[in-house]
Amino acid sequence: MARIAYVNGRYRPLRDACVNVEDRGYQFSDGVYEVCEVRGGRLIDQRRHLQRLLRSLGELQIRLPMSLPALGMVLRETVARNRVQDGIVYLQITRGVARRDFSFPAADTPPSVVVTARSLDPAANEKIASSGIEVVTVPDNRWGRVDIKTVSLLPNVLAKQAAREQGAREAWFVDRDGRITEGSSSNAWIVTGEGKVVTRPADHAILRGITRTVLLDAISAQELTLEERSFTVEEAYAAREAFLTSASQIVMPVVRIDSKPIGNGAPGLVAAALRREFHRFAEQL
Ligand code: PDD
Repeated sequence: MARIAYVNGRYRPLRDACVNVEDRGYQFSDGVYEVCEVRGGRLIDQRRHLQRLLRSLGELQIRLPMSLPALGMVLRETVARNRVQDGIVYLQITRGVARRDFSFPAADTPPSVVVTARSLDPAANEKIASSGIEVVTVPDNRWGRVDIKTVSLLPNVLAKQAAREQGAREAWFVDRDGRITEGSSSNAWIVTGEGKVVTRPADHAILRGITRTVLLDAISAQELTLEERSFTVEEAYAAREAFLTSASQIVMPVVRIDSKPIGNGAPGLVAAALRREFHRFAEQL
């Protein structure tokens, strides 16, 4: 079945879908995005994703090109037209098309909107989760506002590629103080020897993941102790468990960091329980 993309008001076969060469997303990565999980044909946490989108747009002074309910309809329609049962839907909004000039274009320049959806194999994801993944650490060389979900992802791309070249699936960024910020496309967590679940506070140094936010509810429901604080690479090496979260991976156990086994080198019980429980706490539309 041919995939369909939504581009500025029209649904088109993906192979014919295109944006203008002077789109500011293309020229300056002047835009924002969201990725939402699709499960059983339903969007997971759409409301929270659209709220975060609003915040990202606001921080960059890009206007919302249509109402949130209309945007929600476009997301659902794109999922339906692509017959996605399990997978992701991707939404991108840029500052629109204008002659190349660093300063903002005229205020009436319409933002560009693109939505795509694709299927992912839940069984394949489950299989990866059952053995856990390896991560490597890399210096965090990103800008100071990674709390905004911009399409400016070059350091993340390079970090992920460095991980892949070392046989790992994710890279964890480390700040100048030797503390882990987050993954190239996920949030980072550890479970200490005393069983405390630790993740970095959502300040300007990380993206406030929607999966992270929902997981905080699951953690408190399981009566686990949460510590929202930064943690060092050494602390991560010595952790009982480690895992990461994102809309496409939910809770993914990490079993090795920089080739060092974490805990007994197998997925941890806390990570496995949180992965099982996650969707009881997420909103499904
Ligand atoms: N990435 N941190 C970064 C840098 C991310 O890119 C992501 C998401 C997250 C987790 O956020 P959430 O739980 O809302 O997915 C944290 C998406 C999935 C992506 O770029 O594909």
